[in-house]
Amino acid sequence: MKNGELLKWGEGKLSGLRVDGYDIEAEVLLRYVLRMDKISNFQFPISKEVEKKYKNLIFKRCRGVPLAYLTNHKKFCGLDFYVNERVLIPRPETERLVEVVLEIIVPSCQLSTVNCQLLDMGTGSGCIITSIIKGIENFKCFKGKECFKNFKFVATDISADALKVAKINAKRHGVLDKIKFIQSDLFEKLPVVSCQLLVANLPYVEEFWQDPSIQFEPKQALYAGQDGLDVYRRFFQQVWNYTKQGSVILIEIDLRQVKPLKKIIGKRKIEVLQDRFQKPRVLKITV
Ligand SMILES: C[S@@+](CC[C@H](N)C(=O)[O-])C[C@H]1O[C@@H](n2cnc3c(N)ncnc32)[C@H](O)[C@@H]1O
Repeated sequence: MKNGELLKWGEGKLSGLRVDGYDIEAEVLLRYVLRMDKISNFQFPISKEVEKKYKNLIFKRCRGVPLAYLTNHKKFCGLDFYVNERVLIPRPETERLVEVVLEIIVPSCQLSTVNCQLLDMGTGSGCIITSIIKGIENFKCFKGKECFKNFKFVATDISADALKVAKINAKRHGVLDKIKFIQSDLFEKLPVVSCQLLVANLPYVEEFWQDPSIQFEPKQALYAGQDGLDVYRRFFQQVWNYTKQGSVILIEIDLRQVKPLKKIIGKRKIEVLQDRFQKPRVLKITV
């Protein structure tokens, strides 16, 4: 069989199942099995082994397995992250958290003179903390790298498997030695140190919400009780011991949770920030 014929076969299977962008996905999977960045010749013969591998992936995709789990790749903030079924697939909406952190710390290097601790809670694939550090590294100012030399980065997750993935990604992007990884149920295993910045994309999906698009992702990364707020409720019982005046807490949320979360957080300075799809997505709490 020629690679072009195999591609047509894959497109046919995926189009039948109404997968959005099925032609692109069929080609991504073909490039993946052929280990090629680009295919310009669709007339070359392929081995039985490659054909079998490709067909297997297409059948899995037809069953709804996300493309990112099949290829073990997901782009986030322009960086390539390794992902597997043990971690949530990074979402484009979450890039807003990274942008806001960089908007706070980069322009003025305002936190650089003090020892600044930045905590990423529920790090999953490590996409947030890795992107923040890469964002800081790319920032050029007259003080150069000196500017952020007092920064400490901590990433936590309740899942040991997720932390393994986060470390793979930190290593891939050359920031492994900059991050301290701690397995912990929220703050349980964390030393009581004030953090200037706390970022958290913790589970916030209501337990009844079932959608084919998330069925293959880890339940522990998604669900948080009846109203989706069980984990954030516990988070806001504990977080104040890890902040000081001026600390900033940034959390990702669903738009329907703005009101109940404001009630949970109480009388504090809270800003609601929108994601790139103009939906309320981030709560910024200044202590
Ligand atoms: C929505 S995912 C976010 C993953 C990643 N930060 C991202 O934005 O793609 C939530 C993460 O929180 C972790 N998690 C769930 N409950 C937790 C808890 N009680 N303490 C710490 N981490 C928790 C999950 O294992 C998962 O990796």
